[in-house]
Amino acid sequence: MNQEKVKDLEGVLRPDFHWGYATAATQVEGGWDADGKGLSIWDKFAHTPGKVKDGSTPDDAVLSYYKYKEDVALMRSYGVTGYRFSLSWSRIIPLGGKDDPVNEAGLQYYSNLVDELLENGITPFVTLFHWDTPQALEDRYGGMLNKEKYTPDFVNYARVCFERLGDRVKHWITYNEPGVYTLAGYAAGVHAPARSSNRKLNDEGDSSTEPFIVGHTELISHAFAVKLYREEFQQHQNGTIGITLHGNNSEPWDEDDPLDVEAAERAREFEIAWYADPVHKTGDYPASMRAQLGDRLPHFTAEESKLVLGSSDFYGMNSYTTFFVRHLDTPPDINDHSGNIEKLDTNKQGVSRGPESDTYWLRMNPGSFRKLLIWIWKRYGVPIYITENGTTAKGETEPSEAVLDDKFRIEFFEGYIGAIGRAVKEDGVDIRSYFAWTFTDNWEWAAGYTDRFGVTFVDFESKEKKRYPKKSATVIKELFQHMIK
Ligand code: NOJ
Repeated sequence: MNQEKVKDLEGVLRPDFHWGYATAATQVEGGWDADGKGLSIWDKFAHTPGKVKDGSTPDDAVLSYYKYKEDVALMRSYGVTGYRFSLSWSRIIPLGGKDDPVNEAGLQYYSNLVDELLENGITPFVTLFHWDTPQALEDRYGGMLNKEKYTPDFVNYARVCFERLGDRVKHWITYNEPGVYTLAGYAAGVHAPARSSNRKLNDEGDSSTEPFIVGHTELISHAFAVKLYREEFQQHQNGTIGITLHGNNSEPWDEDDPLDVEAAERAREFEIAWYADPVHKTGDYPASMRAQLGDRLPHFTAEESKLVLGSSDFYGMNSYTTFFVRHLDTPPDINDHSGNIEKLDTNKQGVSRGPESDTYWLRMNPGSFRKLLIWIWKRYGVPIYITENGTTAKGETEPSEAVLDDKFRIEFFEGYIGAIGRAVKEDGVDIRSYFAWTFTDNWEWAAGYTDRFGVTFVDFESKEKKRYPKKSATVIKELFQHMIK
């Protein structure tokens, strides 16, 4: 750890600050059809030729379904106090629906994992939905495109989880990055369920309206699950519940141009406030979105609005990078989902806009992350749980000494975790957790095994998916030892 960088941040984080690593079921578990698990839309997607960059599937992923004890021991050696993971809906209810049977073996796996964590002094943070809709619900009624049918199924699934795990799980997250699910799955069409006729990538879908319909379903079903938890479980189980939103910062390309400054604000509203305003501020979508999208953006009924507003005990924040944006004079395209801005290629500006990772959309910019923390705190004023943040690094193809001494990732975490300390200390932002993405290299969705975000290198060629700790794991531990009171 570079002591100099964080010297002044000793003890700035609250004693009950939780930190650790985040993962998602599809990306790490493997055992894709083991012990009665049903298929998810990602199983279908990955088994369709041409969808995943390296042609891989998450059939085995990192085998954490089989190696969870070993993983918990390794996490413990990394010093974590919490672990954020997601449940696979189709492992628990293979066909997904409220009248479909529960798979006891699937539930048992999660129950064992929770017990193992608690025995090792690690607090579980559990996400109900990290993108893996049961394929059966997609086939039955179009999944989230059908709010009326989907919502009771999601709420029933949530109930099963609260009933069976809520005696031990005290931190629930309904949805992970609902906005990425909608835009990548229904606009760009590059993620499951791969719909997007207007962009000619697929033969189904209407990318000018579907993302917003799906977004609405996510918000309503999230709010009903929270209502259920609050009415029937929260008091005696004594836990918290909320939603995790993605959000990268947007900065003006030219900060002296007021139109670019406005464009950056509009970009944040389209990316973040789309979900965050209804939940944390107004019970409705931002005016800038309504102005551009009109009736393609669904309307909340008065009842829905009341239900959604205040439906998260905290602001769940995933953040990785910064976009530099420029105002566009041309009228917005019907398929514009970003607020009629031009996202500029950060490469044009070289290192001054952040060193490059191994992922095309991700560049290191901790100063901008701090600005975003302040923006969220000022606009929403609820405690922030950082539920994901991390990076890939170039050239990590084998577990060589240089790769395991992962200097780029170390610099990233020193910068971002330092930014958190400064936001708490100097800007008065209330931040209560930090989960780095991610514990081990894993299956990065449509990028397959090519993007390595782990603080543990995984040899995907080996049968047992051998793990090799990288130095960043030690540095993160030291940072939090220094910064937590
Ligand atoms: C956010 C998503 O929640 C996670 O699944 C993904 O792997 C990371 N971003 C990195 O792209």
